[in-house]
Amino acid sequence: MTKSEETNQRASGRVETYSPPPWAKDAHTPSFAEYQKRWQESINDPEKFWGKLASELVWDKDYDKVLEWNRPFAKWFTGGKLNASVQCLDKFQDTETFDKTALIWIGEPGERREITYRQLHEEVNQFAAGLKELGYQKGDRVAIYLPMIPELVVATLACARIGAIHTVIFAGFSADSIRDRVEDSGATLVITSDGAWRRGSKILLKNIVDDALGQIDSVKNVVVVQRNTENLEEFTHSMTPDRDTYYTKVISTGPATCEPESMDSEDPLFILYTSGTTGKPKGIYHTHAGYLLGTMISTREVFDLKSNDVFWCTADVGWITGHSYIIYGPMQNGVTQVMYEGAPNFPNPDRFWEIVAAEKVSIFYTAPTAIRAFMKWGDNWPQKHDLSSLRLLGTVGEPINPEAWRWYHKTIGAERCPIVDTWWQTETGTISLTPLPGATTTKPGSATFPFYGIDAVILDEAGEELQTGQGLLAIRKPWPAMMRGIWGDEQRYRDTYWSKWGGKYYFPGDGAFRDDDGYFWIVGRVDDVVNTSGHRIGTAELESAFVEHETVTEAAVIGIPHEIKGEGLVGFVTLRDGNEPSEELAVELRAWIGEKIGSFAKPERVIFAADLPKTRSGKIMRRLLRDVATGKALGDVTTLADPGVMNELREQYQDD
Ligand code: WTA
Repeated sequence: MTKSEETNQRASGRVETYSPPPWAKDAHTPSFAEYQKRWQESINDPEKFWGKLASELVWDKDYDKVLEWNRPFAKWFTGGKLNASVQCLDKFQDTETFDKTALIWIGEPGERREITYRQLHEEVNQFAAGLKELGYQKGDRVAIYLPMIPELVVATLACARIGAIHTVIFAGFSADSIRDRVEDSGATLVITSDGAWRRGSKILLKNIVDDALGQIDSVKNVVVVQRNTENLEEFTHSMTPDRDTYYTKVISTGPATCEPESMDSEDPLFILYTSGTTGKPKGIYHTHAGYLLGTMISTREVFDLKSNDVFWCTADVGWITGHSYIIYGPMQNGVTQVMYEGAPNFPNPDRFWEIVAAEKVSIFYTAPTAIRAFMKWGDNWPQKHDLSSLRLLGTVGEPINPEAWRWYHKTIGAERCPIVDTWWQTETGTISLTPLPGATTTKPGSATFPFYGIDAVILDEAGEELQTGQGLLAIRKPWPAMMRGIWGDEQRYRDTYWSKWGGKYYFPGDGAFRDDDGYFWIVGRVDDVVNTSGHRIGTAELESAFVEHETVTEAAVIGIPHEIKGEGLVGFVTLRDGNEPSEELAVELRAWIGEKIGSFAKPERVIFAADLPKTRSGKIMRRLLRDVATGKALGDVTTLADPGVMNELREQYQDD
């Protein structure tokens, strides 16, 4: 089939379909009719729908009102009081779940720890009490820069317990990125570790934090987890007197218990930075009750959680997927989870499958970029293992190409496991478009239908609703876990998400279409955000990092299709006079981006351009750069200030 035939088939929805599994009748949402009924209720009367479910939260004080909607600001469960760590831990105190394994943690070098809800509760209490002893309290911002170790879960829940607002920074970020986030959030405490393992190499996280905090005096304390308890010297680091202290010490100095702080439904729970279209990352913040309810219910429904499931979400807690579907969602449901520290291909490309088989994982949630890498590594790796414990598969983070979807279904799911392709964002807080495994007939590559409470539509640029065909995804009504704002920048919240159609719709920044059967298909970002390996990166962020290099005067960054990563980054740079393009300089510039932002943001290629193609008003024509980088025929260049620039660029690119 040609590409355009495939596209036509998808647009009309005429692709093969996959029915719900035989166990559908026992699912939380057991049929499509039931889904439709509940979804309609959730849209027609959100207050009734969510109000009923809210009785599953443990309230210190009842709320007065389910929803107050002053577009674009929503408040849910106003007047209520509760604590997030209580929902994840204390709630189970008098139940069997308390002695159930919460985390099966696997370190990259091979350690394995099982931690029960009771044990986590104990450690969260101790750490929270220790943080209080250090002087931290409700409303303080705490930056957490940790690898995927159990202390990361303890630290976030301990912050939640004392009412401090956590901002987790993915441990792949650079010193500069930490500094930006610490400064913007006003964090006064940083929790980190001396180091981490990644694909067998040591990463000295504490040194990176020291580097980041060099010029910041607002941070009063740094708490350091020692990653290798067998050999405390493993990761070289130094401790700054009066500022730095070890995690074990903080745990042991306070009392054994810590009363949970009673938080207002709308008090901020966390800030999480994500890329946007300007150079400055946005601090998306979420509040308590709505976010907690949304994550609890969506985890249960989308993954059809049962008490004997072993759930494994392979994301890092440094991104929203880890916040919602490792910490808050699964833990509120009292499920047993696998938490793995390392890379999928260390020491071998079957590390994930080895873990699935050994731990009898029943629900597995990963990203398309990982699936494409598994495909490339070959079927023999998963085939070496018994994957029969799996009953449900999920994907998130970027559009999944139908070929990868089918491979996942066949090779990992043995054609037995339904796949939930879940579309959502840091901003939406919870899964927003998704199949429900017991209800939805799926189509490879489609995120299918909106989750409860999500009033999704497709609009054209002018704001006309499209029943079928391609346009922009929009959401019409507020939902409990939606972002409440951008930390310290209310105007940017309005401008970015609510200004496109006169304040009437939330605009997520994704292009999408509905097929003839009403299925939603996400096409990808329509702004200058590139989704590489499921990580969102604003091209403006990279561009401003490039021009900070002494040799660069101008830069334009674009995304191009990439076999594994979905999209790869290409940087076009113009050098300052007196600098010559060279292979060494290209290598140096890639490394520079790694240092400035983090190695996951390194471009695939750096292309030197004597000049960049611009319109007469000086706007860089990214479309043309994309054509050059993907080897397409030269497009319409008549609006170029200097059409000759393109020919030169293309010659250079082809010579490379
Ligand atoms: C993209 C990750 C297609 C989308 C949870 C969105 C997806 C951005 C999907 C958010 C999916 C996420 N299909 N595209 N199933 N899931 N995206 O904030 O472009 O890191 O806007 O949240 O990822 O990325 P974020």
